[in-house]
Parts: sequence; structure tokens; C-alpha cells
Amino acid sequence: MFDLKGKVALLTGANGGIPRATAALFRKLGAHLLLTDLDPAALETFAQSLPAAEARILTARVDVTNREEVDEAVALAGREFGGIDILVTGAGLYVEQPVTEMSDEDWRLTLGVNLDGVFYACRAAMPVIRHGGSIVNIASMAGHRGSVRHAHYAACKAAVLGFTRSLVHELSPRGIRANCVSPGIIATPMTEGVMASNGAALIANTPMRRFGSPDEVASVIAFLASDAAAFVTGETIHINGGLYMD
Ligand SMILES: NC(=O)c1ccc[n+]([C@@H]2O[C@H](COP(=O)([O-])OP(=O)(O)OC[C@H]3O[C@@H](n4cnc5c(N)ncnc54)[C@H](O)[C@@H]3O)[C@@H](O)[C@H]2O)c1
Repeated sequence: MFDLKGKVALLTGANGGIPRATAALFRKLGAHLLLTDLDPAALETFAQSLPAAEARILTARVDVTNREEVDEAVALAGREFGGIDILVTGAGLYVEQPVTEMSDEDWRLTLGVNLDGVFYACRAAMPVIRHGGSIVNIASMAGHRGSVRHAHYAACKAAVLGFTRSLVHELSPRGIRANCVSPGIIATPMTEGVMASNGAALIANTPMRRFGSPDEVASVIAFLASDAAAFVTGETIHINGGLYMD
């Protein structure tokens, strides 16, 4: 499909449903991986479950709300791989609560993971991403149309869209691209609650009449990360079965 042979990919939130599918596909396509998330043991178990291949896999505990840990992961990629070609910001937190019940801490926590985390990862990685490289930020349908009882999450995802488009101006002169994917409802641990409470209605409103799978997001991320998308930058690809059409 797409060739990522020899490319170095750094993923945040790599234990998540979508990032795991992305890591597995990237590995199949020949990329070296630096997988980061909160739980190092779970990351290691996942890394070992991936099929043997020539390319290397490293794992590191990184809390994306912690600037030093993010910076250190990028430095690790530099030391071990000599640089980065692909950054995928997958870490995410989706807490259900109405605005009137959001404490300052709730607001800050959601912004810390979903927005600060993207900023920290991009800022640290940008100087070491090589010519021809690609950033894929995982936004969300929520960033385009809002999300019931997830206003802080939706605000972050909308901000990620604007942030990513702004990166284009700084990265294009160096031959680096930046894009977003905006998934709709994808069956992962993150959406278990919403699928259980509101799944039938969501499916009824989705022209394709089903939820998406993590693999169906991973393949679009791989496209954007690859040379097949060499002139695509500042773009957002919706992956939602027609639930929201821009
Ligand atoms: N599943 C969906 O329907 C959907 C839709 C739109 C966007 N997304 C986005 O896709 C991305 C992946 O989500 P997913 O569905 O695979 O969810 P998931 O819950 O399976 O994965 C999220 C991952 O982020 C990690 N994480 C949380 N806080 C972190 C922190 N402080 N530092 C580092 N890692 C942290 C978690 O440990 C987890 O492994 C997220 O950005 C999410 O917002 C998902």
C-alpha cells in the first residue's frame, strides 16, 4: 500500500485503540517505532505482540502533559534513530461532564492531554523531523461540530485543527507536512461509554450504519504520513461513515 520503510515514527498515546492500530500498520510498512504512553509495561507487552520485522521498536513512558517527558522522548528518538520522520499525536482523554459541572481542574486536565500534549509533542519534534517528514495530529469530529457533555474535549480538538494549519507555514519551507484526521465514532476503549449509552442512535444517524474500526483510522494516518500524500498539507480527513460531512 504505502511504503514507510526506514522511516522513524514517534507516537503518543500508543497504547490506545487507534494508535495501536497505527503502530501495527506502520510496522507492517517498515517503519521504526518509538511508542510512548503512560503505562510502560502495557506498552512493552503490546510492542512484543507485534510481528517480528527488521525495523526497531522502542517504548518509553511519556505523560504528554509533562513537557520534560515529551522533550526526553524526542531526544531519545534523536539518540537512537538519528531523527524523526513521522509524528502521530494519539494521546487523548474523553471525559463526559456538562460545563456547569466542570471544575477548573477538570478543564485543565482535558486541555493538558488533548491540547498541551499536542503542542509539546509538535514543538519538541519539529526541529528534529527530517525533510519529507509528516505530522499527523488526531483531532475529532467533536472539533468540528461540538460534542454533547464534552465541551472541553471539543474545544481542544477544534484548537488542534487551527494549530495544525498554522504549523504548515513553519514546516513547509523545510519540506515537512502537517495534517489532521478527524475520526467520528471509532470502537476503542475511549468510546465504550458513549457506544453503550447512545450507540443505537449514533448508528441510526450514520449513513454507513456502523461504528468505525481503529484500522480504518490507521490506514488514513498511514496515507497522510506517507509520500502518497506528498503535496497534502494543512488538510483534515474525516473518518466517520458520513455521520458528519464538512
Ligand atoms: N475513538 C474515537 O471514536 C475517537 C474519535 C475521535 C478522535 N479520537 C482520538 O483518537 C486518539 C486515540 O484515541 P482512542 O480512541 O484510541 O482512545 P484510547 O482511550 O484507546 O487511547 C487513548 C490513549 O491516550 C493515552 N493517554 C491518556 N492520557 C495520557 C497522557 N497524559 N499522556 C500520555 N498518554 C495518555 C491513554 O493511556 C490511551 O492509551 C485520541 O486523541 C482521541 O481523542 C478518538
